[in-house]
Amino acid sequence: MRTKIILAGGSGFLGSVLSEYLATKDLEVVILTRRPKTRGGPVREVHWDGANLEDWRAELEGARALINLAGVSVNCRYHARNRRRMLDSRLSSTRVLGEALGQCRNPPPVWLNSSTATIYRHTFGPAWDEEGVIGGCAEAKDAFSVHIATEWERVFNEAPTPLTRKVALRSAMVLGHAGNSVLPNLLRLSRLGLGGTLAGGRQFVSWIHQEDFVRAVAWILDHEELAGPVNLAAPNPVTNTEFMSVIRRVCRAPFGLPSPRWLLEIGAFLLRTETELVIKSRRVVPGKLLAGDFVFRYPRLPAAIKALCLRAAPVPPDVGA
Ligand SMILES: NC(=O)c1ccc[n+]([C@@H]2O[C@H](COP(=O)([O-])OP(=O)(O)OC[C@H]3O[C@@H](n4cnc5c(N)ncnc54)[C@H](OP(=O)(O)O)[C@@H]3O)[C@@H](O)[C@H]2O)c1
Repeated sequence: MRTKIILAGGSGFLGSVLSEYLATKDLEVVILTRRPKTRGGPVREVHWDGANLEDWRAELEGARALINLAGVSVNCRYHARNRRRMLDSRLSSTRVLGEALGQCRNPPPVWLNSSTATIYRHTFGPAWDEEGVIGGCAEAKDAFSVHIATEWERVFNEAPTPLTRKVALRSAMVLGHAGNSVLPNLLRLSRLGLGGTLAGGRQFVSWIHQEDFVRAVAWILDHEELAGPVNLAAPNPVTNTEFMSVIRRVCRAPFGLPSPRWLLEIGAFLLRTETELVIKSRRVVPGKLLAGDFVFRYPRLPAAIKALCLRAAPVPPDVGA
């Protein structure tokens, strides 16, 4: 029985949540990272540079699965240097993993590669499942992000891995309680009165609770019939107005200053990030997970946020499920 899972780029937010979960299932986890640390227990870190075939390749032999999470954070200004880093880190890591699998005598039977729900077109219409329209639009300022996502999936799909099933994880924003996820920052801003609706509030926000994210990943590993893209998103996306209202209730913030688009542009510049992350309407549903027997533990936003806050803070948040 194969018991080893390889997490390339597994030292960050999603890698930490996944390795913790997989370790509870008695699986050995090997994290490929540029800065390995010594750890005890079932999680081991091995050096790679995300671009070149080196000794780490041997770890793939006989592994149960390869999951690639590597990529420079998209929470930055999209100037030329950062654009290059965001794109290169994703394409190089995916390409070299494909090469490594090609050299394995006994490759893992499944490879999950990160992608993003941002690949789908900005929409106020019906939600996109895996058959949804792919593309950018000027209103959402998302041409570059969609370019990253489509190139990322192209390199992944082109890797010749006849013995390995491939699934692209088109993930929505993952809500977690750790400091390196989005939610704690949103809660902090809301406590300062800055948790109002953003850019009119009509745009949809797709999201998934971290526990459902890891459960869905485990479910995909076990479902050998699944290949191609899979949306990892809760079945109930909400508008930005609803999203911010839940956040304010959790924080007991009596008010939240709404931020029009022009103000967001200034704020994003000062915070060294991009408005696309909040102005794009991402309405994505998990078609393949729902068509299978996957059951979400947190299908609705209020209960998801309430559960995360209960884990992060001793004071029960004031929000209904
Ligand atoms: N979090 C979300 O809500 C979300 C949603 C959709 C898609 N995703 C995608 O899922 C993946 C993981 O997300 P995350 O939130 O866990 O991100 P994260 O916390 O920023 O971790 C990303 C990992 O990528 C590795 N990395 C960074 N630059 C690299 C480079 N140049 N070469 C090789 N590895 C590099 C880092 O590992 P080392 O520094 O240890 O090498 C880091 O641990 C990302 O690709 C992200 O775009 C995330």
